[in-house]
Amino acid sequence: MKTVLALETSCDETAVAILRGTESRYDLLASEVASQIAAHEKYGGIVPEIASRNHLIYAPRLLNRAASAAKIRLSEIDAFAATAGPGLASSLMIGASIAKGLSIGFGKPYLAINHLEGHLLSPFFRADKDGENEIRPNVSLIVSGGHTMLVLVRGVTKYHLVGRTVDDAAGEAFDKVAKMLGLGYPGGPEIEKRARDGDPKRFELPRSMLGSENFSFSGLKTAVRYLLPKVAGQFGETTGRERRPTQTLYDLDEQTLRDVCASFQQAVIDVLIAKTVAAVQKYRVDLVTMSGGVSCNQELRRQMRETCVRKGIEFKSAEPWLCTDNAAMIAFAAMLRLCVGYESQVTDEIDPNLALAL
Ligand code: KG4
Ligand code: ZN
Repeated sequence: MKTVLALETSCDETAVAILRGTESRYDLLASEVASQIAAHEKYGGIVPEIASRNHLIYAPRLLNRAASAAKIRLSEIDAFAATAGPGLASSLMIGASIAKGLSIGFGKPYLAINHLEGHLLSPFFRADKDGENEIRPNVSLIVSGGHTMLVLVRGVTKYHLVGRTVDDAAGEAFDKVAKMLGLGYPGGPEIEKRARDGDPKRFELPRSMLGSENFSFSGLKTAVRYLLPKVAGQFGETTGRERRPTQTLYDLDEQTLRDVCASFQQAVIDVLIAKTVAAVQKYRVDLVTMSGGVSCNQELRRQMRETCVRKGIEFKSAEPWLCTDNAAMIAFAAMLRLCVGYESQVTDEIDPNLALAL
């Protein structure tokens, strides 16, 4: 039985988790997340300097809160882990430096964890069940604000990159389209909310690079950009003079807005599902897993599940609380790695472009 403490500070979420267990049985003793959405909202995106300053403030507080929730002293922790990349350099270094300091101070191992590994293992994490975390071969779709990729997972540490976005990540496309529409940040939940009452077939939008294993979402984003003046024209374009940074230039009636959201969301879903299914067929696995912030999207989850059922493929998605950035997934990856004898050096550097270890 080992107890791992993990920090996650790769982007704009500060998180600390404490996990106790073995590779097949575990108990999440604490999981604390401090969201910085409010601090970045008015800029319509993440400001790295603000993110790292906030990590410095929040991380020590969350450490104390996690230790008291877990009823554990830091001296009783067996290993300290942190996200070492990919992410924003100035953010990553805060969590990694704290974990390294604790590791040196208490003479315990340090584990540098890849953020993407945290996401791709998260569908196997079931806080309330035992024995469900055997990492079976699967095609893993990671869809977040910073990443969109398909990975063939053969087991812990055995990853093969199938395809990735060549431009925007799916979540980034949601955020940018939401910004064009004058909706709030993060854009994914805002678009999903409007799409529920919209017609996904009203506007024809491109499904890019369907013949490739890679993804591209910038063409779709541009298509929405060009669509807006056309549909707004029917209802009168605003002057834009009183426009706030997050307010749309185009005056869409409520139903048109919902239809644009639904049509855009469906275009993203179609591409994600088509490429995932193609990867399953190519690599002959019988399990699809999905993780990352965009996988919170209920419509994506529903359609992916339906497609998998139709094709006789098992489907596991991360529980919604594990989809956006958190430290429980980093602690879980660290626990599984610890169990196969992996350890990092405190001299290992963070890497903003850290590739998934093969
Ligand atoms: O995984 P995450 O917290 O951060 C990264 O590691 O990037 O993902 C955040 C992204 C944002 O782009 C946000 O708009 C998107 O996930 N997102 C969603 C939904 N909830 C969050 N996208 C679509 N539908 C949602 N319901
Ligand atoms: Zn993430």
